[in-house]
Amino acid sequence: RYLFLGVFILFYFILLCSIENCKDYKLQFERVFSVPGEAAMLNTTLVAMDVFNFTTEPYNVTWYDPRTGQELSNQTGRVVVRGETLWLLSVQLEDAGEYESIVRTPSRCYRQQTKLVVEKPPAGQCGRPRQAGQVVTISVNGFLSCPLKDYISKLKDYNASYSMKWYKGCELIEDRRGRFTYLSMAQLKVEKVELEDSGNYTCTLTFDLGGVTASVSETINTTIKETYYMRPIVHKPENITIKVEKGSRFNQSCLMFVPCVGEPSISISWADKNDFIESVPENRVYTVDGRSWRQESPSRGLWKEVLLVFSEVREEDFYKNYTCMVFSARGTPQCFFTLLPPDPQIALTIGLVLGSATVLFITSVVLFYLFKVDIVLCFRRTFPVFYTNTDSDGKLYDAYVAYPRQFGVGSGVETETFVFHMLPQVLEKTCGYKLFITGRDCLPGQAIVNAVEENMQASRRLLLIYTASTFTCRRQNSSFSNNNNNNITKSDGDGGNSDGSDSVDGGDGGCVNAGQQFECEMAMYRMLLEGSLKVVLVELEPISPAQLALFPESVRHLRKRHGAVCWWKSQDRRTPRRKSEDEEKRGTRDAELPPPPSLSPSSRFWKEMRYHMPVRGKRAMYPEKTALLTLSHGSRIS
Ligand SMILES: *[C@@H]1O[C@H](CO)[C@@H](O)[C@H](O)[C@H]1NC(C)=O
Ligand SMILES: *[C@@H]1O[C@H](CO)[C@@H](O)[C@H](O)[C@H]1NC(C)=O
Ligand SMILES: *[C@@H]1O[C@H](CO)[C@@H](O)[C@H](O)[C@H]1NC(C)=O
Ligand SMILES: *[C@@H]1O[C@H](CO)[C@@H](O)[C@H](O)[C@H]1NC(C)=O
Ligand SMILES: *[C@@H]1O[C@H](CO)[C@@H](O)[C@H](O)[C@H]1NC(C)=O
Ligand SMILES: *[C@@H]1O[C@H](CO)[C@@H](O)[C@H](O)[C@H]1NC(C)=O
Ligand SMILES: *[C@@H]1O[C@H](CO)[C@@H](O)[C@H](O)[C@H]1NC(C)=O
Ligand SMILES: *[C@@H]1O[C@H](CO)[C@@H](O)[C@H](O)[C@H]1NC(C)=O
Ligand SMILES: *[C@@H]1O[C@H](CO)[C@@H](O)[C@H](O)[C@H]1NC(C)=O
Ligand SMILES: *[C@@H]1O[C@H](CO)[C@@H](O)[C@H](O)[C@H]1NC(C)=O
Repeated sequence: RYLFLGVFILFYFILLCSIENCKDYKLQFERVFSVPGEAAMLNTTLVAMDVFNFTTEPYNVTWYDPRTGQELSNQTGRVVVRGETLWLLSVQLEDAGEYESIVRTPSRCYRQQTKLVVEKPPAGQCGRPRQAGQVVTISVNGFLSCPLKDYISKLKDYNASYSMKWYKGCELIEDRRGRFTYLSMAQLKVEKVELEDSGNYTCTLTFDLGGVTASVSETINTTIKETYYMRPIVHKPENITIKVEKGSRFNQSCLMFVPCVGEPSISISWADKNDFIESVPENRVYTVDGRSWRQESPSRGLWKEVLLVFSEVREEDFYKNYTCMVFSARGTPQCFFTLLPPDPQIALTIGLVLGSATVLFITSVVLFYLFKVDIVLCFRRTFPVFYTNTDSDGKLYDAYVAYPRQFGVGSGVETETFVFHMLPQVLEKTCGYKLFITGRDCLPGQAIVNAVEENMQASRRLLLIYTASTFTCRRQNSSFSNNNNNNITKSDGDGGNSDGSDSVDGGDGGCVNAGQQFECEMAMYRMLLEGSLKVVLVELEPISPAQLALFPESVRHLRKRHGAVCWWKSQDRRTPRRKSEDEEKRGTRDAELPPPPSLSPSSRFWKEMRYHMPVRGKRAMYPEKTALLTLSHGSRIS
């Protein structure tokens, strides 16, 4: 009895050991789903490195039928056992169950169950009862992936032939028809996905294995995602340089477009070389969110703008890249701009040129007016060629000197000195002009009116010399003429009417007594009416406005228009001191000295005089003339 029991226990242990020898990996998590009539591939995951080293160890895989517990072997048209896979080529409802795979190596043994679920397809519907969900995005190309990649890769390994077909619902989708294209790797491409593209898509894999043709399908529940976005496109800035005035306010927009539906997740930033620029308006350079708007056509999307604001452009901003970056999951496009200082503007340049030309012109005009006399004199001296010779114009004198004759009265002495000494000294002796001086050059006995008229006619200029009292005295019954009885004030300027004034005191100097009034009026007449005589006013004393008011109309007019050469100006400041010096010198060293300023032809006064005097033409021979004139003068005076 005990022996029997012992043998039984031994058997039991042997049995136990033989079973426990196989390591149980339990039910595989992945289930295999199938529908009646289709193929199903069962797979063991035991042939893996984490189980045993299958590259070095030899192994056998055996599959067991869950219903009978029998080892499965090739059955034509129904079962193919190949490598680690079990193919059921035409599944039936009763084939469902847990199939056991046992992997045996020379020393070890592993077991695993794989569950096959067989379901009836839903009535009146195409495709599998179980579906994989896939999502495609509207408006862009969508790709559906058939979940039969394992089958395909196994078939490829076996070098078996296979083909793929796609259905939408029950309808076959043909390759390259409409917006659909079959791709390798069991993919279907849908161009520009539309809302109505949602639905059940079924991919059917047909293949030859073990001499028969079988097929397997998967259905994809396709939903359309209506929100999407693509790579943003930056429209501004345009990688350009912008010229901007220093110190000015400036802003640049970063304008970008995201083709999208819904809210794209993007962010726009401005950055310079060093850092991102913050949206802090207190900073000198900051960013501000600009406009944002949606566009429906030609493509749907969102425009967005972020401004980069320079509240004041500074030197340091120039020659720097300011980059606008748009961050998105679809890429980070960026564009930049660079600020440059502006060109000196053309308008400004022209303005400057015109301005300086104007300034130059004004300066030259002013200079010319200031130094007119010097310039003209210099020009005359340098280019006598440009002036016609006056020698042959039929005139005897260069100038007729008309002066107030008030002998004995205080100022009369100075006037006489000026007329009889200084004028001839400078104009005749030094400059070579020929003067007619009443009282010096008058021929004795000549009728005064005739003398005046003739000599005036024979002169090119009239030097009208006067003092403050010259014209005013007349009103106070003390005229030009030294003798009141020779008053010819009645003369109306027309030489012919002055017959009555013939009563000339023909005494010493002949016409010395002739009235300057008459000369004056005669001169004015010639000048104003005939235009034949140029009158030069020579002012010996300063004239106050009150005194001026008493001047004859014609003189006032002339003085206003052409001005007067003022003797007193050259006397005023310098002479008092220098005169005495000059006199001293003259006394001691005589003629070796240069002439005193009042007699120097280069003094202001004499320059002006020379300026008004007639121009000596090209052929004029100064030295000879001067000598001759001096001679003749000498003789006449004597
Ligand atoms: C079959 O098993 C291998 C590993 O052994 C695994 O890579 C593959 O995905 C499995 N296929 C299926 C259809 O379960
Ligand atoms: C499998 O065995 C080979 C040869 O012995 C060895 O080189 C390899 O590392 C082993 N692999 C693993 C995963 O143990
Ligand atoms: C695999 O099976 C073959 C034949 O059935 C046998 O000869 C071989 O020894 C087996 N190998 C292992 C590791 O069991
Ligand atoms: C696969 O089939 C092609 C011919 O169709 C053959 O040339 C090739 O050798 C085969 N490869 C295998 C591994 O059977
Ligand atoms: C897709 O298949 C499911 C399950 O069979 C079904 O309920 C649904 O109506 C189908 N969808 C369409 C659009 O046919
Ligand atoms: C079953 O048939 C396939 C070819 O169809 C062959 O490769 C495989 O070795 C066979 N399996 C058995 C256990 O005979
Ligand atoms: C298809 O997928 C959508 C979303 O993924 C889900 O709402 C719907 O219920 C699914 N339909 C079926 C039949 O599984
Ligand atoms: C940007 O410049 C434009 C004109 O150049 C001006 O109208 C606008 O107000 C400026 N924006 C900011 C934020 O300074
Ligand atoms: C600005 O960027 C452009 C293009 O990336 C580059 O060629 C240029 O050298 C940059 N300039 C500066 C000043 O960094
Ligand atoms: C501007 O330059 C960037 C590189 O700095 C480049 O990626 C971008 O396409 C350019 N944009 C334009 C409009 O040229």
